[in-house]
Amino acid sequence: MDLSSFKEKVMPSFEKEMLEYIGKDSTKKEKLHEAMSYSLAAGGKRIRPLLLLATIQSLGGNIKDGFATSAALEFIHTYSLIHDDLPAMDNDDLRRGKPTNHIVYGENIAILAGDALLTQAFEIIAESNIPVEKKMKIILALAKSAGPEGMILGQMADIQGEKKKLNLKELQLIHKNKTGELLKFPIHAACVIADAMPEIEEQLMEFAEHIGLAYQIRDDILDIIGNVEEIGKNTGMDEAHHKSTYPGLLTLEGARNALEQELTLAKVNLRTAEDISKKSAKPIQLNLLVEIIDLLAID
Ligand code: IPE
Ligand code: IPE
Ligand code: MG
Ligand code: MG
Ligand code: MG
Repeated sequence: MDLSSFKEKVMPSFEKEMLEYIGKDSTKKEKLHEAMSYSLAAGGKRIRPLLLLATIQSLGGNIKDGFATSAALEFIHTYSLIHDDLPAMDNDDLRRGKPTNHIVYGENIAILAGDALLTQAFEIIAESNIPVEKKMKIILALAKSAGPEGMILGQMADIQGEKKKLNLKELQLIHKNKTGELLKFPIHAACVIADAMPEIEEQLMEFAEHIGLAYQIRDDILDIIGNVEEIGKNTGMDEAHHKSTYPGLLTLEGARNALEQELTLAKVNLRTAEDISKKSAKPIQLNLLVEIIDLLAID
């Protein structure tokens, strides 16, 4: 199956299930409910759920087993965007093609909508019907990826790095944490859910490491050359906030090369994983993930 048929087959039912989680809790105050749905339903590329579900599919697992974890991940990602956009953080007024959460609901409610999405994410996984040992592994991994050793660490370093000239190693560390961690998590979760062989998981996690860094390099590039309608957020924000970025450090061309290099390395890991699997009883085909890599290229 190619990526577009996979998306067509899987993503609408995933989307529906994900949005239903907000509605499930009847005790939520109406306004809170509305503010959570506003940012979640605004769209977004759903790249993290897609990575998780496409990896399960490629490993021969049951994609339905990945729905709750994918929804939880998108809840956490969406919360991170609501908070990232706050005046005290990146102070952005456009996200997913719409006014940011705090512009519509006010800062107080935007903060709480973010808190609610973050907290409910763990409830969603805890209540899901995958085996308990798998759930525990996934909850732990998600907490680490999103928390003070992962995304928050990256966001902290990003803020502290404003107006400072960072070197490439320091910038890479920010990117790998603030963005890479939540892109590595879906691959790990898929490996847990679909019982990947350890040697295969090792290659897939290296693939994820490259994709994670590539994704933020791409985001930095699009902040300069992106089209506001297409990316659904304002451009030129990194320069306005004196952020260190790949183009800032390496020039636009250097950043493009770095992006291409990460994507090429990610493909090598996929080929290696396929080769390893050929020697096992369960050969796998990773063309869906190759197609996702191609989506990330900028020409
Ligand atoms: C934006 O993430 C923030 C980064 C981590 C680069 P996405 O580009 O995946 O945003 P949505 O989910 O499509 O809105
Ligand atoms: C954000 O990085 C990463 C998050 C953890 C939200 P950016 O600040 O560059 O993301 P955008 O450009 O606002 O989407
Ligand atoms: Mg930011
Ligand atoms: Mg931002
Ligand atoms: Mg950005």
